Amino acid sequence: MSATTLRADVATEAGGSMPSSLVIASLSRALDLAEGEPMGHALRTCWLGMRLADWVGLGPDERQDLFYALLLKDAGCSANAYSVTRWFGADDLSTKAQFKVSDWSSQWRSLLFAIRQTAPTAPITRRMAQLVALGAKGPGLASELVEARCTRGAELVRQLGWAEPSADAVYSLDEHWNGSGSPRGLKGDEIPVLSRIALLCQTAEIFWRHGGRRSVETVLRRRRGTWFDPQLVDAVLAHARSDRLWERFGAVNHPEQVAPLDPRPRRISCTSVDDMVRIGQVFAGVVDAKSPWTATHSTRTAALARRMAEVMGMSTDENDRIGLAALVHDLGKLAVSNAILDKAGPLDAGEMAQMQSHTAITHQILSPLWLLSDVAEMAAAHHERLDGSGYHRHLRGPDLPFGAHVVAAADVFEALTADRPYRRGLDNDEAVRRMRREEGRTLAAEPVAALAEMVESTRSLPPADSLT
Ligand SMILES: [Fe+2]
Ligand SMILES: [Fe+2]
Repeated sequence: MSATTLRADVATEAGGSMPSSLVIASLSRALDLAEGEPMGHALRTCWLGMRLADWVGLGPDERQDLFYALLLKDAGCSANAYSVTRWFGADDLSTKAQFKVSDWSSQWRSLLFAIRQTAPTAPITRRMAQLVALGAKGPGLASELVEARCTRGAELVRQLGWAEPSADAVYSLDEHWNGSGSPRGLKGDEIPVLSRIALLCQTAEIFWRHGGRRSVETVLRRRRGTWFDPQLVDAVLAHARSDRLWERFGAVNHPEQVAPLDPRPRRISCTSVDDMVRIGQVFAGVVDAKSPWTATHSTRTAALARRMAEVMGMSTDENDRIGLAALVHDLGKLAVSNAILDKAGPLDAGEMAQMQSHTAITHQILSPLWLLSDVAEMAAAHHERLDGSGYHRHLRGPDLPFGAHVVAAADVFEALTADRPYRRGLDNDEAVRRMRREEGRTLAAEPVAALAEMVESTRSLPPADSLT
């Protein structure tokens, strides 16, 4: 039985590599979702930012650093998702989206923002209690949330191997020209120019979506010299007078439209997925950081899946690709609010539908990576079941790649043995016993047998960080 439908040999025939810009541009759409923005927000921000770099005459090195900073500006997005939900008592995704359109730079505006965003749909008594808790936390909360996001974002950019100016640009994304931003309260030219460009362009993208070109012009003029570098505002206003530019901007919606803007294109090998695994580990970290309840879920699922593939005697290539699929299998969960992910009680129908949308979203995020279509298939099928009772395509056993069964079993085992807000995790033996009951019905026999062997034998289960 084959684990995959497209393997190293096919990748070699096809040239064996993809542009790194295409990989990062595709994955940037996962970060958009975690910020409560639609997929394509970072792509359009990048497109505009690279034009602005031309207009202000940025050098080739700076343009290279800017390109990846613009795509990865929200890499730290999940680091504060749990805290946002906890302190605002609200959906983290809508709170974060509002955070970007509100001017919260004075204490008065911060207070207004807090009143509007705190538990907006809850009964008045709960809203008041939540506001009191938020008030007790003090005005430092916004800086604290931004700091967590910036620090983590910069760290992940470094882990991906991009140059320090890109990491620094991500760290300083929320600094404002007049010194009212976070985390360091930098002012004017103290703020890296790449951060100044990124802040302006991300704001322009959001306001363009809400109200078109006029809305962009209004916000740029209004925040010229407060949030934004006046010179950059003037450059945009001077070059962006025509509707044609905004039409082209609005048409940017696919990673392939932005990937060619990389000033110094590099390629990532897909014949061996080592480079992709490194990137997959970083994005698994983004997913896992979203909730303390799943803080090691993706990395541990990947470690389990790899060990199971090894026990089943699968080839190194199959093993690597299954491991990569397991690392990125829950990317789509970045689109699900923590109010649902961390809910202690049962989900209602609407919440369940949102939760179950995550596999289709995982597939959508990975689908432009044409040399990894086998990985995307395995990842997106991790909630499908042998008897067709799974989701999202309700595929049956024979229609699923074997690797999908391995990832599914690893995912189930990891979930059963981990604590959740509503129950304690099972011990390994009990988890295997429960999975044995599903063998041949919802779960494939071989991966479950491999898991049972791993649990029964003296071979210890892999720790979370043992993937490589
Ligand atoms: Fe999942
Ligand atoms: Fe999962």
